[in-house]
Amino acid sequence: MLNFHILTLFPEMIQHVMNTSIIGRAITNGFIKVTPVNIRDYTESKHKKVDDYPYGGGAGMLMQAQPIYDAYQEVTSQIEPATQIGKTPRVIYLTPQGKLFDQQMAKELAGEGNIVLLCGHYEGIDERVLNEIVTDYVSIGDYVLTGGELPAMVVIDAVARMVPGVLKNSESGESESLSHFLLEYPQYTRPEVWKDKAVPEILLSGDHAKVEKWRREQAIERTKERRPDLYEMWKKQKE
Ligand code: 6GU
Repeated sequence: MLNFHILTLFPEMIQHVMNTSIIGRAITNGFIKVTPVNIRDYTESKHKKVDDYPYGGGAGMLMQAQPIYDAYQEVTSQIEPATQIGKTPRVIYLTPQGKLFDQQMAKELAGEGNIVLLCGHYEGIDERVLNEIVTDYVSIGDYVLTGGELPAMVVIDAVARMVPGVLKNSESGESESLSHFLLEYPQYTRPEVWKDKAVPEILLSGDHAKVEKWRREQAIERTKERRPDLYEMWKKQKE
């Protein structure tokens, strides 16, 4: 069982998405758990304030250290007796300044028992609380989003499907795109002819070896065309 604890100012953003499709099924079947924690519930300020102006001036507001730290402490106090004795969980801060998230990282994280995901908003978070609790800085790509909730859900989705049992055999996580630097081959379903376009004949041949060979060629061709960077990596590891 892998438990994701999401520290966020917008817990309602999380629930609906996480209860849908394969991730919803994984929660129902007890392979993973997703627990949003509302940072605002932990503020000591009378008016439930969680942000303030940056020292030294500058644009926007920063999330303050105290509510985040107290929310974090609550989460860790809940999990330490139960699962990871003496070991503090990975605390991932979603930020464009982090290490680029990839399939390799997803596989690694799938072996954890608890993962804390910290979602920032506004212009960022007071550096002191980051230094105190964060173990990993993770970005989901080179573009800027308004908050960490979507990245957190991207990470959860990619990690959860690598947890043993989450995917059915027919949904296999390993054989897919990117696991060996190749993109997926093109796929077709009924009808056999659509808008005058026929399905490639080889797929109807029933010759399994030929189909496999064709799919592999297609995967290689497609990777070369669309992702020359991946193609170079594939060529290298093949040698
Ligand atoms: Cl992890 N957070 C935000 N706010 N923006 C991002 C990102 C993360 N990754 C790419 N852009």
